[in-house]
Amino acid sequence: MKIEADNNCIVIFGASGDLTHRKLIPALYHLYKIGRLTEHFSVLGVARSNFDDETFREKMRQALIQCEEATGETLDAFCQHLYYQSINTFEAEDYAKLIPRLTALHQQYETEGNTLYYLSTPPSLYGVIPECLAAHGLNTEEQGWKRLIVEKPFGYDIETARALDIQIHRFFEEHQIYRIDHYLGKETVQNLLVLRFSNGLFEPLWNRNFIDYVEITGAESIGVEDRGGYYDGSGAMRDMFQNHLLQVLAMVAMEPPAIINADSMRDEVAKVLHCLHPLKADELENHLVLGQYTASVIDGEEVKGYLQEKGVPADSTTETYMAVRCEIDNWRWAGVPFYVRTGKRLPARVTEIVIHFKTTPHPVFSQKAPENKLIIRIQPDESISMRFGLKKPGAGFEAKEVSMDFRYADLASPSLLTAYERLLLDAMKGDATLFARTDAVHACWQFVQPILDYKAERSRIYEYEAGTWGPSEADKLIAKQGRVWRKPSGFMKKKV
Ligand code: NDP
Ligand code: BG6
Repeated sequence: MKIEADNNCIVIFGASGDLTHRKLIPALYHLYKIGRLTEHFSVLGVARSNFDDETFREKMRQALIQCEEATGETLDAFCQHLYYQSINTFEAEDYAKLIPRLTALHQQYETEGNTLYYLSTPPSLYGVIPECLAAHGLNTEEQGWKRLIVEKPFGYDIETARALDIQIHRFFEEHQIYRIDHYLGKETVQNLLVLRFSNGLFEPLWNRNFIDYVEITGAESIGVEDRGGYYDGSGAMRDMFQNHLLQVLAMVAMEPPAIINADSMRDEVAKVLHCLHPLKADELENHLVLGQYTASVIDGEEVKGYLQEKGVPADSTTETYMAVRCEIDNWRWAGVPFYVRTGKRLPARVTEIVIHFKTTPHPVFSQKAPENKLIIRIQPDESISMRFGLKKPGAGFEAKEVSMDFRYADLASPSLLTAYERLLLDAMKGDATLFARTDAVHACWQFVQPILDYKAERSRIYEYEAGTWGPSEADKLIAKQGRVWRKPSGFMKKKV
């Protein structure tokens, strides 16, 4: 397997925007610093803003200094690889300006025509840019590969996702398209596959015979910050559930691929997503809870409610919290509920998966034994904790819950890649394993569509105070089957 990126030119559309200076350029900088990008690469920023190369370099330099504390020769050397071209991104004719720039950059950096286009613009341009590139032959692979990374959101619902695919597929083939979901770039999400498929210990238990239910939590303590305008049109369902959390669910539930490569991995992901039990309107009443945070005081500080956030209409019914009970209609998972919840302004930032195992068939001891569970912490403090009962020292046979803990930091090497670093590198190597394929994206929308329709027609939003674990109705949702949500806490003690 290749370690370094292919020689190539990365063209970032929307280069004057937030994602470019906060995530993409820092990711490329780090890859450069640790030697995973050779000297044979250049970055051409493209947007409407009227910068020249020097202005763009200076902006990116400042962003890197702020977020990376980058200084010295490496920073100078990296910035020399950055270039900028202003165009009207809606005007096909204007894309002609890219041709001499790209020709010169490919020659200067000996990048053989390899070009990675990154769409980091508002989604309204995701269909436009491929067409404009194609109008100038910038999509053809006669000289070097051409790949297209498409940021989320990929569509707004099932119809728009399909339409966008049709639009892009007119000019780029599926093997050239890399739909990014940064959750798939997280080490701990990938570790799920290794945990499941490289151990004989877990897989035999990983099914309806031994697992009682699964919880997936994607909690955030922040509110919508300055993204109220975007978020209000999206909500927790589109922002977190449809993409990130369904991808995580697929990693928990998929069948083992024969080998790990882009096709077999993504075949299994799509297969399990297609098995999600479609929720009908009458089931949704009992399977779904939507919430919206209200003002509160957290650690002595006043916190705004969602309706008071900048860019949010005062009568908005957008959900900032959702909890849903999903089921998977297949042999492995029949009858096992997957409870998934996500929300803003919850008490902690934590993403975790909890596998709850069934209890013993017969109660040998008089009191109730502790549950057996496996807690997979995706972030922060990445870890795996196995919980089970052991005898409390002393007289009798009282069981107490104990845990066996593994901290991911104990394995981590200094060159551990962040999600964007890993995914950018994979795209530059031509490895699409961790990118969402069109059938999986459609399966996610297909599952979510009835929820979106239900939400639009008769949305019932429950309030929850900022800083709490969501509306009490979410507790009732899971309590219907005698269960309770885990309240995640700092279960791992930092090593000193
Ligand atoms: P921005 O809103 O900052 O937009 C990026 C650039 O696109 C702007 O600098 C602007 O450049 C251009 N642009 C903005 N509005 C328009 C418009 N109406 N018509 C044409 N061009 C426009 O977006 P982000 O950088 O925050 O995000 C880019 C994409 O990535 C979005 O689709 C977003 O959903 C996605 N994303 C962003 C994340 C983030 O953390 N920011 C996280 C995950 C996904 P100019 O005016 O110079 O042309
Ligand atoms: C983004 C969402 O895709 O993911 C944000 O748009 C959310 O609203 C973010 O905050 C969460 O990502 P992470 O990596 O911080 O869990």
